[in-house]
Amino acid sequence: MRVPGDKSISHRALILGSLADGWSRIRGLSNGADVQSTAACMRALDVEIEASAVRGMGLDGLRKAPGVLDCGNSGTTMRLLAGLLAGQDFVSELSGDESLTRRPMDRVVTPLREMGANADWPPLRVGGRVPLHGIEYTTPIASAQVKSAVLIAGLFAEGTTTVIEPVGTRDHTELMLGSMGVKVRVQGTRVAIEKADRLQPLDLEVPGDISAASFWLVAGALVPDSRIRILGSGVNPTRAAFVEVLRRCGFNIETTQERLIAWEPVADLEVRSSTDLQPLKVTGATAAEMIDELLVMAVAATQLRGESVIAGARELHVKESDRIAGMAEGLAAMGADITAMDDGWIIKGPSRLEGTRVQSQGDHRVAMALAVAGLLAGGATEIEDAECVAISYPGFFDQLESLC
Ligand code: S3P
Repeated sequence: MRVPGDKSISHRALILGSLADGWSRIRGLSNGADVQSTAACMRALDVEIEASAVRGMGLDGLRKAPGVLDCGNSGTTMRLLAGLLAGQDFVSELSGDESLTRRPMDRVVTPLREMGANADWPPLRVGGRVPLHGIEYTTPIASAQVKSAVLIAGLFAEGTTTVIEPVGTRDHTELMLGSMGVKVRVQGTRVAIEKADRLQPLDLEVPGDISAASFWLVAGALVPDSRIRILGSGVNPTRAAFVEVLRRCGFNIETTQERLIAWEPVADLEVRSSTDLQPLKVTGATAAEMIDELLVMAVAATQLRGESVIAGARELHVKESDRIAGMAEGLAAMGADITAMDDGWIIKGPSRLEGTRVQSQGDHRVAMALAVAGLLAGGATEIEDAECVAISYPGFFDQLESLC
């Protein structure tokens, strides 16, 4: 099977491609609603976007949108665009759906103001005061969205812009900027860029989304007699850390055909039913590297013998929903032994899960994780508002059916 194009890379390709000199070719963009929100915002800023191409307007080519920019459900859209629009000589307002308007934006407003930008929240208004100046910013929380917002603003800032993270997060922005000719220096968890004169257009094939693949990797290992091969998945080490954790528990996951496509590592992944599995341990040092996969890892933990601990993930409270509460509620209703903590869960297994009616909380990853729990459960599992999977993975249930 194939999974949708990587959501994180797709957002960045649309945003950075819009700033390049000329047309970028981008194949395999995510077909999820979040990436469509980014495309719609860029179009409102006067950028031409076709199915596999973006017309770059140069670094000073964006035009003020006629109205408020609607970021839908997408935190990545709102935070990365805040960085981009802070560097423009016009004011922009960004809003989104009910979930997004509840999510914290002060984490981008603070560094953007330090760079000399106009930035206020709530509601989120940025831009209109230029030029920005480079800063050295130590992020209090590990967030690739915050890092990316500051680096993108740094394209428009005099001097050097540096971000230092407590724990390294996904590095797609740095890689893509480097591939477009921007001078990027990375030393451990410190990234520095210089003001840019121009960006070269992209010619990119977006790898499959390894966060989308995570649902199949767990399902394939735990449903007896399974074998699933996922073709062309991204395996960037800043995204694939969860695979190592699962392997250490005994999950039978193989990586083959490793290659580099436009600076991003890509491979085929194969998972087979696995036995003798050990409990999971995720701590503060590693949680940020697998923040989007922790939900399906919690589902996996219900089937592992012993006590699994997923900790260091307080950020899950402020995702599309409160994911710590949502997963604890859903899995407990299905019969799991799960205790919610402030920064994760303690899960004792193995439990025999029973299908029941559960809530997705309108959160795509909760819906997909509970669907995997439903595969492992006896009886029928009904997931409320399951159509929210379209935020990142419109074909999720069709592919699930075709696998069963
Ligand atoms: C993302 C970063 C992460 C992740 C989100 C996508 C990105 O968010 O959870 O799904 O593309 O930069 P945080 O930056 O809030 O950790």
